Amino acid sequence: MNYNKKNVTQIDVKGKKVLLRCDFNVPRDKKTNEITDDKRIRAALPTIQYLLDNGAAVIACSHLGKPEPNFEKWVKKQTEKGKDPASLTEAKWQKTLDELRMDGVAKRLSELLGKPVILAEDVVGPDAQAKAAALQPGQIMLLQNTRFEKGETKNDPAFAKKLADMAELFVSDAFGTVHRAHATTAGVTAYLPGVSGFLIGKELSIMGKALDDPARPFVAILGGAKVSDKIGVIENLLGKADKIIIGGGMAYTFIKAQGHEVGDSLLEADKVEFAQKMIAKAKAKGVELLLPVDTVVAKEFAADAESKTVSSDAIPAGWQGLDIGEKTRELFAAAVKGAGTVVWNGPMGVFEFDKFAEGTRAVARAVAESGAVSIIGGGDSAAAVEQLGFADKITHISTGGGASLEFLEGKELPGVAALQDA
Ligand code: 3PG
Repeated sequence: MNYNKKNVTQIDVKGKKVLLRCDFNVPRDKKTNEITDDKRIRAALPTIQYLLDNGAAVIACSHLGKPEPNFEKWVKKQTEKGKDPASLTEAKWQKTLDELRMDGVAKRLSELLGKPVILAEDVVGPDAQAKAAALQPGQIMLLQNTRFEKGETKNDPAFAKKLADMAELFVSDAFGTVHRAHATTAGVTAYLPGVSGFLIGKELSIMGKALDDPARPFVAILGGAKVSDKIGVIENLLGKADKIIIGGGMAYTFIKAQGHEVGDSLLEADKVEFAQKMIAKAKAKGVELLLPVDTVVAKEFAADAESKTVSSDAIPAGWQGLDIGEKTRELFAAAVKGAGTVVWNGPMGVFEFDKFAEGTRAVARAVAESGAVSIIGGGDSAAAVEQLGFADKITHISTGGGASLEFLEGKELPGVAALQDA
């Protein structure tokens, strides 16, 4: 994939209305709906500030969560989830939409920018159109949640055209959403020239270099619950990395592939053959594939579960692996030491439970102290590194979960492909 894209500094923005796609899909408190982490909003600030300082009028937009814009479809989905259809009123559906309005994001963005952010009441309706028409250079407005319009996820050309009609240029800085072929990530470039913002530029250049021209040795650390989520990444990295470390829930399928029992640990029986193939492929290619040699097993999946450390080839029946053991931590830390590049995606254990966070902590410490160019895929591994206090020692923590994973798989990202080449 060509990710050398024209960026916002290579095009004249002065006096132009710029439609700016951000990823403001931020985590919120379940009860209060308050934003609990504004990292994604902060990550968009350099591009926003650049556009405002250079005389553009910014029409920012983003999705937030997964609203269902059609009442009948919402009822159908809820009924499928087992809800009583009689309880599914229009008022309840409206409440789910209200919770995903952009008001909180606009407020936080305004605080961070130190200037007003004009909030539209709709996405491409009369309010958005009127506010966009009146917008002056140096001002910023935010459209309502783009997924309030069904045309967004359908990548509907008519919806994309309405968006485009409000602006003269499209800038994408929504790295977290570039793996989606939606109207505001890709479709709109049929009607407007599209260039990248600073965040997308940074994400692509750091991760692109890691894949294409890494400082060696290149060590990939893969964890998380499922092998099935990481198939593409394992396959792609087997052709590029010098060492691949496998931990987390997905390691048990590999342990099973080595011929050992895994007790009640997570196991994807239909992926054992794939794991066997990957073990053989790594051997054939001379890639060092490291698996856990010992495992912290627990009686149940609970924060205070009774636990013990056992050899990975002797996980007892009735116990489940929730973390890598001490010998494995040392083995993995030694493999990371002296690396030129480390890419890490997925925790080593159930780090949300303090008792089973030691493996992830040890690997985070090793990555932080390695002196390597270190890149953390978004999602759980980013949360782990932050929660455990190593974030400031990492070269790059991606703002994209699914997007960084698809990037590491070597897939074409629709939201990147849609932008003009440099
Ligand atoms: C994310 O949080 O990974 C992005 O914002 C994409 O969100 P989505 O999975 O709802 O498309």
